[in-house]
Amino acid sequence: MSTHRTIGVLGAGEVGQAVADKAVRHGHEVLIGNSRGPRTLEALVDRLGPKARAVTAEEAAKPELVFLSVPFFAVPELTRLTTWSGKIVVDTTNQFAAAGPYRGRYDVGDLTGSEWVAGHLPGARVVKALNTLYAPFIAADPRHAEGRLVAFCAGDDADAKAAVAGLLDEFGFAALDLGGLREGGRLMQLDGALSGKHLLLQDVG
Ligand SMILES: NC(=O)c1ccc[n+]([C@@H]2O[C@H](COP(=O)([O-])OP(=O)(O)OC[C@H]3O[C@@H](n4cnc5c(N)ncnc54)[C@H](OP(=O)(O)O)[C@@H]3O)[C@@H](O)[C@H]2O)c1
Repeated sequence: MSTHRTIGVLGAGEVGQAVADKAVRHGHEVLIGNSRGPRTLEALVDRLGPKARAVTAEEAAKPELVFLSVPFFAVPELTRLTTWSGKIVVDTTNQFAAAGPYRGRYDVGDLTGSEWVAGHLPGARVVKALNTLYAPFIAADPRHAEGRLVAFCAGDDADAKAAVAGLLDEFGFAALDLGGLREGGRLMQLDGALSGKHLLLQDVG
């Protein structure tokens, strides 16, 4: 039995829209924001229905659980939006240095992408998830006759990771814990062994 939440979604592109759609379909309230303001999202929230509201980025950052679906290089702009301490942040980003087709990789030194993201959101309980999947597969029904689409999760806070895994399971994915932001994050990030891998998990028994 799931608890309906208010979920913030920062970024209203392909991934943010897919997440928002999943959330409202499962009865959650969604506050979705981008950098250009709520008026640019009116058509989107009309499509999503009454459980979705277009808001400023500051308001989308307020809920206790926030999906972060902005370009990686925009993450430093999010620090000032709210007091992040204690919030669960689902980091769906991939470490591209710029928008467009030849984007290069943003250099974060020895850190994993999600460790770097967490460093910009002081005190947030960051869980890396969904970034390994292509947006159309995040948007589609993850339940297939052959099994459920695997949604890897990595994070350093066990309770936050369990909450995110529960939500992803509710959405129909098969959440799979890969450990912390360092070891799991490295497998999941751009060029990691699991980047772009779409696996189906069949529950037997
Ligand atoms: N596309 C995929 O297949 C895919 C799959 C998995 C993960 N990812 C990753 O997930 C993230 C989102 O991907 P996407 O494809 O959805 O990107 P996208 O279509 O380019 O959308 C990005 C969204 O972020 C918003 N944004 C940019 N800067 C912002 C800021 N400072 N504050 C608030 N909102 C801001 C943009 O709004 P404005 O236009 O108003 O700036 C836009 O709504 C990226 O990090 C990407 O690498 C993508």
